[in-house]
Amino acid sequence: MTRATLTLVLLLGSAAAALAQQATDAVAPEAATETATPADSFGPLTDAARAALAAKAEGKAVTGQNWMITAANPLAVEAGAKVLAAGGSAADAMIAVQAVLGLVEPQSSGLGGGAFLVWYDAETGELTTLDGRETAPLAATPTLFLKDDGQPMEFMEAVVGGRSVGIPGTPALLEAAHRRWGKANWSGLFDDAIRLAEGGFTVSPRLAGLVAEEGDALQTEAATTAYFFPGGQGVAAGATLTNPAYAATLRKLASEGADGFYQGAVAEGIVAAVRGAKNPGLLSMQDLAAYRVIERPAVCVEYRAHDVCGMGPPSSGGLTVGQILGMLGGYDLAALGAENPESWRLIGDASRLAFADRGRFMADSDHVPMPTEGLIDPAYLAERGKLLSGDDSLPEVSAGAPGWSHAALWGQDTSLELPSTTHISIVDGDGNALSMTTTIENGFGSRVMTGGFLLNNELTDFSFETHDAAGWPIANALAPGKRPRSSMAPTIVMKDGKPAMVIGSPGGSRIIGYVARAIIAHLDWGMDIQAAVAAPNILNRFGPMDVEAGLPAALTEGLTAMGFTLNETDLTSGLQGIVIGPEGLSGGADPRREGIALGG
Ligand code: GLY
Repeated sequence: MTRATLTLVLLLGSAAAALAQQATDAVAPEAATETATPADSFGPLTDAARAALAAKAEGKAVTGQNWMITAANPLAVEAGAKVLAAGGSAADAMIAVQAVLGLVEPQSSGLGGGAFLVWYDAETGELTTLDGRETAPLAATPTLFLKDDGQPMEFMEAVVGGRSVGIPGTPALLEAAHRRWGKANWSGLFDDAIRLAEGGFTVSPRLAGLVAEEGDALQTEAATTAYFFPGGQGVAAGATLTNPAYAATLRKLASEGADGFYQGAVAEGIVAAVRGAKNPGLLSMQDLAAYRVIERPAVCVEYRAHDVCGMGPPSSGGLTVGQILGMLGGYDLAALGAENPESWRLIGDASRLAFADRGRFMADSDHVPMPTEGLIDPAYLAERGKLLSGDDSLPEVSAGAPGWSHAALWGQDTSLELPSTTHISIVDGDGNALSMTTTIENGFGSRVMTGGFLLNNELTDFSFETHDAAGWPIANALAPGKRPRSSMAPTIVMKDGKPAMVIGSPGGSRIIGYVARAIIAHLDWGMDIQAAVAAPNILNRFGPMDVEAGLPAALTEGLTAMGFTLNETDLTSGLQGIVIGPEGLSGGADPRREGIALGG
């Protein structure tokens, strides 16, 4: 390495560390952790759903022989379970779940957002992924989030309103998944969501709590205010809420397919809402009509004789989870155990190294050169893993050199993805497996509502700045038609060519740490799926070590003695997981949120 290159690497490393620290401090507080939400909170539920809530409260996995589904709200899981029990495919069930989630968990995902889906096909034995990521309008320019003086906007100033809205991808992804893998009649998959939207659903404690927490911040747009604050009061837990506008949108989607969303009255409503919002955006009818789902190969990394497979660019999720695990391959985490500070030193510093690469190299590879193969090359990860061989936290961390390309010239990006989002894991009766993480980005997205659903603020997942402090261009800078970098990490873990675990989580850029540690909890520490999703969250995104309250003193003191700064905070993962074992299927739902697993 020349002296100039070395200086550059050090500069990039320390600038990134400082900015990442700043970024970590800026993370909005998440909602209070859910523990054992009473079954009555969701209105009438089936006996199976009530039993699943009880199992979760007792820390027990749900079992099944033919199919399994887990998602963030019991009403949505019931809709999907009904489809699976009737012989529908995992893709069919996902559509029913997404339609209900858009109603009962509208702050996290919906028709106005985007999603990534990983699919294992039991007939062909192949894995593939669908990229339904939101996309920048053609009129958007790299300076969209810069103020007149060239400085980046405050994050929430950019989020709220039409400016941050990307072209939604979720409706097109639902249709693309159904075309490829659907068995059930398309239009019938929206029946439960339409019934609940018209007849009313019970507002959950989490939704009511988040509306109350938002308060005035959720009342910047008339349609949003009218829906979430009927009569001037925020919707209350246990209240019955109807959403006829959402039912009407679903009916169009059901009868006309995705064209009923991307063209005609629904599309006109989206464009009018974005352009008429207080902070107007640039989305056009042409943008909506041109939206396309992209099928991409899964990215896979070997770990403990399994292949951990997930979503490649424009998500950083699969690559960064893969990097963390790939670097840990040479360390015996099983022997060290889950409560050993040494295990978490290794995981924490592997994450720091992976996040350094993520910040520099990862973006939409259809628009910028990216060393995708090099980032998960086993030889590169083994070399990076050797950096972990000491006893203490690494004093300095910077991006590596994962294969030469123009990507070596990218600067460090510190843009954030804040926690909202939701995850769906499904195995169907034919043995197909589906892992889908779906989002509108921030909690309540852009806060702009039309057609009964919220529009995303996904464009704020781009870097606001076009160049880093050292003047290097940022790979994840905004460009027309580009997809913002994501952290979503829908994952299927394969063993001998068959799925062994389906897993994913919401949580912004913390998704990566949640998913990696759930896989380690199961594969290294032998936890069953409910224990693996419920296990304590400890993670590092290139700054302090984020830890949940209540960890054993020996663990926190050990980490501090190794040189880590601990940041005790709520870490509201929403891991939804399935393990496919010789005895059948088992499902787990994160106790920090309201979801359940149901099996049959
Ligand atoms: N907006 C969350 C993510 O894509 O990671």
